[in-house]
Amino acid sequence: MAPLGSEQRPLRVAIVGSGPSGFYAADALFKSAIHVSIDSFDRLPTPFGLLRGGVAPDHQKMKSVGAYYERVADANATRFRWFGNVEVGRDITIDELKQYYDAVILAVGAQTDRTLGIPGETKAGVYGATEFVGWYNGHPDYQNLEFDLNHESVVVIGQGNVAIDVTRILVKPIDELRKTDIPDPILNKLATSKVKTVHLVGRRGPVQSAFTELEIKEFGEIHGVDVVIDPSDMAINPASQSELDDDTNNKAKKNMAVLRDYVANPRRGGSKQVVVRFLEGPVEIGGDDRVSEIILEKNNLIGDPGHQQAVGTGEKIRLNTGLIFKSIGYKGTAIPGVPFDQKSGTIPHQAGAIVGLPGCYVAGWIKRGPRGVLGTNKPCSTETIATLLADLERLRPCSQPELSAVEAILSQRGVRWITYSEWKKIDKIEKERGTELGKPREKFTRLDQILEVLG
Ligand SMILES: Cc1cc2nc3c(=O)[nH]c(=O)nc-3n(C[C@H](O)[C@H](O)[C@H](O)COP(=O)(O)OP(=O)(O)OC[C@H]3O[C@@H](n4cnc5c(N)ncnc54)[C@H](O)[C@@H]3O)c2cc1C
Ligand SMILES: NC(=O)c1ccc[n+]([C@@H]2O[C@H](COP(=O)([O-])OP(=O)(O)OC[C@H]3O[C@@H](n4cnc5c(N)ncnc54)[C@H](OP(=O)(O)O)[C@@H]3O)[C@@H](O)[C@H]2O)c1
Repeated sequence: MAPLGSEQRPLRVAIVGSGPSGFYAADALFKSAIHVSIDSFDRLPTPFGLLRGGVAPDHQKMKSVGAYYERVADANATRFRWFGNVEVGRDITIDELKQYYDAVILAVGAQTDRTLGIPGETKAGVYGATEFVGWYNGHPDYQNLEFDLNHESVVVIGQGNVAIDVTRILVKPIDELRKTDIPDPILNKLATSKVKTVHLVGRRGPVQSAFTELEIKEFGEIHGVDVVIDPSDMAINPASQSELDDDTNNKAKKNMAVLRDYVANPRRGGSKQVVVRFLEGPVEIGGDDRVSEIILEKNNLIGDPGHQQAVGTGEKIRLNTGLIFKSIGYKGTAIPGVPFDQKSGTIPHQAGAIVGLPGCYVAGWIKRGPRGVLGTNKPCSTETIATLLADLERLRPCSQPELSAVEAILSQRGVRWITYSEWKKIDKIEKERGTELGKPREKFTRLDQILEVLG
């Protein structure tokens, strides 16, 4: 038999997940010297993962990164197929994929949230960031959620860039949001919001804040929004001072400059407020069935510079609120038949090769954990592909490499997969609907809408 990766026998690769890491993996394979044919699978009827369903809708410039992924698909149209609306683990198993592909790459991201593990966390009115972010981005899984935006005071736990996104969408004037690709039905709900104050709660101090300069600075640019910081929260201990003085810690220096500027030049009189709170850890969520308050504990930081942990002082603070968003990090979920580390929510691997599963690889957030921007996934996927290519001679050729084999099994099961050219049609219609409404696109948010359009 011709060797795998030759013209006579192209390497057949399945990439599960068509988010950034999946597309960077495809890109690296297409740029390699081998002959390859790739099938990309996604459980959603639309590609691009968190670029479509996570990245903030008022950051359209960032969304334009999608053009790069489109070029990967378009430039390799004869050796790339996309199967949208196919969930691996439900519609087809990993074992089955191994019959049709010589190598399988899992690039499934992190699909859920970390939990706080405090009493009251499951009360109505407490949500994970994945839910709110998915909702305002039109992700089909979250369209039935009803967020009660009748509360004036909302609490966001965590101070990463996702928490910043969530807070910004809650306070930004509706006329600004109408220029984004937030779906119209969701805009109409946001338009009735009574939210006036969002408390952005960090368990550690300003030097350790996880957000980045541009993102925290953006609050100051939103019309009608005051950024409130208790000046005493800005006092830092000697270990934090030495973190700040560290020449390599530009992020903390830039963040501190912005935060100090907010304290020195407070804006007053806006109709909404973002209260940035430091050194307060959530200990309990109170209320009957529904949340009515959150109890926070004032923290001290202990430990060496760079490794300081928050430790409760015993001093408690109660905030009345009817709506809480936990934005403390996304978390990966297990795929049947694939090793999984529950604690980190990742798939154990060596340089991208899944431990104990020959011929299977991993890339992106499910490999590294839920950290890093879009571009971070490029070197991550490139490392995985380098490992795969180094394994080439050891890979066991799959038993059914014909392109029609996987289609046959999906058809047999009644799976209505969506092709890449069908996605292009959806994309075009979404943009046309958007133009009519004066926005970048009007998304379809339900599978049945998409299938109806496709006929
Ligand atoms: C709210 C939010 C905002 C962000 N904003 C920015 C930003 O502004 N700028 C920036 O640079 N980075 C941003 N990021 C980070 C960026 O989105 C991630 O680095 C990147 O999306 C991770 O890529 P991924 O491919 O690993 O995962 P994902 O983007 O999550 O893609 C995974 C894909 O796998 C699919 N999938 C999952 N399970 C299955 C299955 N069983 N079968 C088939 N398909 C499956 C999913 O549907 C999804 O399409 C943001 C992240 C979040 C959470
Ligand atoms: N505009 C952008 O570029 C953009 C936008 C969104 C997301 N992203 C990227 O996407 C990645 C994920 O972002 P993220 O915001 O989800 O995660 P993140 O940056 O890791 O932030 C998580 C936040 O949650 C806090 N936290 C964790 N566990 C907690 C607990 N038990 N109690 C209280 N607080 C807790 C963390 O505090 P500690 O530090 O104390 O752990 C931190 O403030 C990041 O790399 C981010 O930069 C980028």
